Amino acid sequence: EKPRRLVVVSNRLPFQLQRKNGKVEMRQSDGGLVSALKSYFENEADDHKFSSVLWIGSAEFSEKRWTSISKRQLESLPYQPNPIFFDKKLYNKFYNGFCNATLWPLFHYFPSFVEFDNDTFKAYEEVNRIFADAVCNCIQEGDVVWIHDYQLMLVPSMIRQKYQHAIIGFFLHIPFPSFEIFRLLNRPWKEKIIEGLLGADLIGFHTHEYVQHFLKTVRMIKGFDHHFRTILLPDTTVKAEMFPLGIDFNKFASASKRDDVIEIKNAIAENFSSKKIIFSVDRLDYTKGVNHRLKGFETFLERYPDWREKVVFVLVVVPSRQIISKYNERKKMIEEEIGRINGKYSTLQWQPVIYRYSNLSFQELTAMYDVADIGLITPLRDGMNLVAKEYVASKSDKGVLILSELAGAANELGEAILVNPFDRDELAESIFRGLNLDDDTQRLSIQSMQARLQNYTTSDWLSDFIQQLDDVKQEQRSQQ
Ligand code: UDP
Ligand code: G6P
Repeated sequence: EKPRRLVVVSNRLPFQLQRKNGKVEMRQSDGGLVSALKSYFENEADDHKFSSVLWIGSAEFSEKRWTSISKRQLESLPYQPNPIFFDKKLYNKFYNGFCNATLWPLFHYFPSFVEFDNDTFKAYEEVNRIFADAVCNCIQEGDVVWIHDYQLMLVPSMIRQKYQHAIIGFFLHIPFPSFEIFRLLNRPWKEKIIEGLLGADLIGFHTHEYVQHFLKTVRMIKGFDHHFRTILLPDTTVKAEMFPLGIDFNKFASASKRDDVIEIKNAIAENFSSKKIIFSVDRLDYTKGVNHRLKGFETFLERYPDWREKVVFVLVVVPSRQIISKYNERKKMIEEEIGRINGKYSTLQWQPVIYRYSNLSFQELTAMYDVADIGLITPLRDGMNLVAKEYVASKSDKGVLILSELAGAANELGEAILVNPFDRDELAESIFRGLNLDDDTQRLSIQSMQARLQNYTTSDWLSDFIQQLDDVKQEQRSQQ
């Protein structure tokens, strides 16, 4: 089989450019999509089945900064980045508007947060068109085009119109909501989105439920029926399938043995002496349930006064989408809540919530994952949630995972303590249960979850997707 090229298309490129000490440096972008895909290409650059990888994404930096990075820096990357420079105003309407003030809240079941603005939809179409043109300008026969996430749902059909035989995959990294939620979009928008997606040959989702929601929506909006997840279009077939995104298991599992990570772990252990540590890390986002989580922690402190001064909650929030008002408001709400709880319960020797608002390095992140007694990961809705998987993989011994049943990851992490993230009583009781769980039970659950994560890593996810994409193509050909 002759090696082919892979063209990855995502709104966010895997790196940002920062000026440090007069030099321009690359820093990894935040979020699950990037951290999964990027580490795959870094690890398996030599043995995956593509001759080369192109990565098309929007530039978060100026053209001037881009040209200032050296050829050597570029050549060291396992993919060839292809940044698109957008007009700021247009991009703003697209990103802060339709993507993150309309699609994001709706798909995460926050209909009351959704903004309806025709102008931002126009910007969405326009930016999607520019992405599609960028792909069309560079594809060659045989290339596999793989488009990612809700920012680019119109791109598949835009490419298809030009290249009828192109090999196009699409993966949605967020939930696909039930039809009752999806239907709230304006009529032309929802039709265009479904038509846009159906331009792909294979459409991937994290869970079985999202696939079912999508199939039903296609039937309701377009009237196309399906048969074993194959959608019957008038002139072809398109498949919708489940591919639960995994993590780079070995990278996290081996982190606890690294010298630089051990050093941080020792420092943390010394700092918190014998206190139990509860840990969470999320991007600043109302979907992550941070306020409900804090309320649950407060109820726990209220009900179990013996635990006061014996436990700390280390809460890390990673800055995200700061211009959007719902995000900005959320930051204030979280900080007020933390201030209130600390004001109420702190003593001279102890502060219950330790808060940090910044990015963590990989070393800090994995050190925290490993030393934490409880990972408290309670999104109100989450497509997958890789943090939960990374926490489990990073454990060198025991530990407890308390996980929202509304995160996609809950389907694969059944040994965790699963909770309803809206229910502060249940949150409080699960913290209490977690702190009292015996060591053997902890180890057993961690080990069985680790075995499962090891079995379906990012690399398996990727091969699985590409394999099924090839199968769909073959099936289409056999029907003609
Ligand atoms: N992460 C990050 N920067 C940080 C801390 C964590 O990029 O400062 C990573 C984390 O390792 C994980 C990802 O961000 O891979 C978050 O993915 P998840 O699926 O949990 O949520 P998302 O942010 O994509 O909604
Ligand atoms: C989620 C989305 C990604 C996105 C990431 C970070 O994981 O599914 O598409 O890249 O959040 O958000 P941002 O808006 O900073 O790209």
